[in-house]
Amino acid sequence: MKILSIETSCDDTGVSILEAKGGVKSPSFRVLANNLNSQVNIHIPYGGVYPVLAKREHAKNLPIVLEASLKQAKLTHDNKPVAPIRGREGSQRPSASNGIDAIAVTYGPGLEMCLWEGITFAKDLAKKWKVPLIPTNHMEGHILSVFGKDKGTFKIQKLQTPTLALLISGGHTQLVLMKKPARLNPARPILSGWSRSGGWMDYEIIGETLDDAVGEAFDKVARMLDLPYPGGPQISKLAESVREKENKVFRGRNFSAEKFTQSSGRRLAESPQNLFSFSLTKQQAGLLRERSIAQAGEPSIANFQQKIMRAESAQKSSLLLPRPMLRSKNFDFSFSGLKTAVLYLIRDLGGIKNISEETKSKIALEFENAAMECLVYKTAKAIETYKVKTLIVAGGVSANKYLKSEMKKITKHKVKLLFPTKELSGDNSIMIGIAGYLNYVKLARRGGNKKGVNNLKATGGLRL
Ligand code: KG4
Ligand code: ZN
Repeated sequence: MKILSIETSCDDTGVSILEAKGGVKSPSFRVLANNLNSQVNIHIPYGGVYPVLAKREHAKNLPIVLEASLKQAKLTHDNKPVAPIRGREGSQRPSASNGIDAIAVTYGPGLEMCLWEGITFAKDLAKKWKVPLIPTNHMEGHILSVFGKDKGTFKIQKLQTPTLALLISGGHTQLVLMKKPARLNPARPILSGWSRSGGWMDYEIIGETLDDAVGEAFDKVARMLDLPYPGGPQISKLAESVREKENKVFRGRNFSAEKFTQSSGRRLAESPQNLFSFSLTKQQAGLLRERSIAQAGEPSIANFQQKIMRAESAQKSSLLLPRPMLRSKNFDFSFSGLKTAVLYLIRDLGGIKNISEETKSKIALEFENAAMECLVYKTAKAIETYKVKTLIVAGGVSANKYLKSEMKKITKHKVKLLFPTKELSGDNSIMIGIAGYLNYVKLARRGGNKKGVNNLKATGGLRL
């Protein structure tokens, strides 16, 4: 079947067309069209997404993006193939297999006024083409994004359960546990709890942020550092530049710092309690190495000890930030205190105008280290607690290079690790098409969704 999917939950307008087959047992997809209009440039002057503007842009862009996708998939506005597809005897095939068979649309979570734009647009199209509408949960889309591609073909791999998903974006920071495929629950009303009864998996949110989402914290800290929106990639770039510099210094000093972190990392990674020290910076690793050499009684002990003291006091007086809730017994997160700590740090250093570019980069590094350590630590704890076999990391923040390398370390050999491609880590309509298809197939088995979709409403706070 052909499925058209629409995404407008935040500041991206996406319309895709997927050819899908295989049912829930072995779903596979071919991308017939994929178009995404990002509004980033429009929101830059506001330092974040300005909802009224985003809504207006969706209204303006939806027809344009639809037009581009229909053209790519060689379909007309009446949902007919541009050139009729001929059967073996030259006869025209039944129309259902030629045009779009269903429309998937994000109905939450997200900015309600933006979601409404997509929903109203989808409802009108569904009426015009006389095809069913599939309400789709944006977060289920992010989970499924790890299987997708923005072109060509792809399949949904069989997952070993329990599967854990760390969903990290500008609006969410959640740890979601999936133990088995969702059961069909005819007793449950069609729209409320759509995903739980009709979705791909049974979802249990085992932890989430109590205040800001991690992406939101990245964006706010970037603003404090005078960096443009969206802040995640900007902070990450600065942090990476310091890491690279430190790497060079260590290579120059002929330290085997890499070896050191790897071997000690492997040992430390076995216990999540030790993860805090697992993600040592090269500087800290070097410090420890110097200390261990000093303790082993090598020649210039005094020399080393002096060095250690100097480095330690430099660290104390400088840019160390907190790791909120790292020691809490649950799987929840908190990023608002970390963000405030950056605010005070900048104030104590005399304000952003008095901070050198080098210090700015070091603050970015320390912030990224702190935020990622919280994510990695709690994920490792959940993996151990629930004996997780597959880890999915998805949402805009999953594009972070450092996070990916740290996640590789905690899953090594034991847990299958899945990240989306760069193209599908942010918001997109491919993931909505995948989630839409799986929901469609499940729902078709219980007799369709005619009753519920007429009442389809944007649900800003929709949960998995
Ligand atoms: O999933 P997404 O595109 O939109 C939402 O649903 O929120 O996520 C956007 C978020 C923004 O906060 C952005 O700063 C963050 O993802 N982000 C990153 C990186 N790339 C994007 N955060 C950290 N490191 C990155 N490389
Ligand atoms: Zn998103």
